[in-house]
Amino acid sequence: MRSLLHRMVAGWPAATCLTLLLAACGGGGGGGSTTNAAPASATLSGTAVDGYLKGATVFLDVNGNGLADAGEPSTLTDDTGRYALDVSAVARPVNGLRIVATGGVDTDTGYAFTGKLSSRADDATNGQLVSPLTSLVDALVSQGLSVAAARDKVAQALGMTAADLSTDPVAAVASQPAIYTRQIALQRAVQLLASANSRENESAHEAQERIYRALARIVLAQNTPATVGELVAKLSESQSASGRELADTIESTIDTALRSPGGHASAKATLQAMDQIRNEMENAQHYDLKQAARRLDERGKGSAYTKLADRSDKAGQADAINTVTRSTGTTTTLTQPANTKGRLLASNCFQCHGTGGVGGFDRIRGGDASEVKEFLRKPAGSGIMAAHAQGYTSSQLDLIIAYLKQ
Ligand code: HEC
Repeated sequence: MRSLLHRMVAGWPAATCLTLLLAACGGGGGGGSTTNAAPASATLSGTAVDGYLKGATVFLDVNGNGLADAGEPSTLTDDTGRYALDVSAVARPVNGLRIVATGGVDTDTGYAFTGKLSSRADDATNGQLVSPLTSLVDALVSQGLSVAAARDKVAQALGMTAADLSTDPVAAVASQPAIYTRQIALQRAVQLLASANSRENESAHEAQERIYRALARIVLAQNTPATVGELVAKLSESQSASGRELADTIESTIDTALRSPGGHASAKATLQAMDQIRNEMENAQHYDLKQAARRLDERGKGSAYTKLADRSDKAGQADAINTVTRSTGTTTTLTQPANTKGRLLASNCFQCHGTGGVGGFDRIRGGDASEVKEFLRKPAGSGIMAAHAQGYTSSQLDLIIAYLKQ
């Protein structure tokens, strides 16, 4: 439907009279159009970004109904989210009108963009952004604020500068990661809360706009800088508290990824996992924001733990001290096992059985190591080893045994 509309507008004959919205055609048209001076600039250009939105429809909402109507300037974004709207045929000043972006693909994740972003056209006729933060500014303008006042208010509520709001978050991702993390957390929290709280006969985009407007009222009342999560938590929608957990988790996992050696690529992978979770919830029409936050969190932790375990496995042997001087003055050379996974757990045993399991009470290196499990069946009070062994789980003892048997 949208693309059909787009083709219709793109293919519109230049001479068509659209007296309601567009400049009246020459020849003394009806009242009101006589001082129809050409606008200072014939194009409005900028970037639509959550990640860059590729192939998104961008239109100038001349009549302010939020929909792309026939005759309203409309175009598609390129691969880096850029658009150029030809507004030469718009009769009224474009300054202050809404620029709306929908559809297309989020190039940071490869997922279809199911949100709706908006911005207000201003004097800067090129280089404008249409982003989650400008959408929030737009929602404040709908509350009656001027664009400048709305920008200042959003910036202040989020502890940012007004300039941050017009900074391309993807281009600045390395130098100012917080601009990026705030936007993507905001957009995902808004979309999922909208879906979780959508009303009958309300489209997804209408529900999202409703949440943005409710957030705008919270921003208006916010006098100290807050996080996206803190603002979201104040919404009186169901799952708002979980929405905060989700926004916080997105910000922290993406921030961690951005600071990792993988940088933006690693952040994209994490965000892709987030959007996969969202996509699954959209397909199932079941929205559980707490579960989404937990799943994203688990994923972040999982990869950090895996990396740590990998490192200790590979580097463990080289780092290890292989020559040990015993208290009796003798030196023993130990060959450190290749797999060091159980070493930390086993180091507790070395206090009595000697470093590396040799040189203390019984040698516990080799086949005898598995006898430790027998102490699990003895009463804890029956001896020091029973008390000690029972401090571990059975699988932890298995790790120790596997280490000592090498
Ligand atoms: C506080 C000192 C102490 C610590 C710590 C300790 N052990 Fe022992 N271990 C002993 C003593 C004492 C014995 C012998 C007494 C016994 O058999 O009850 C023993 C016996 C054993 C035996 C039986 C050896 C044999 O040949 O019969 C094994 C196997 C063993 N320990 C493994 C371990 C493991 C594995 C750990 C770490 C999880 C550990 N021990 C921690 C003191 C300790």
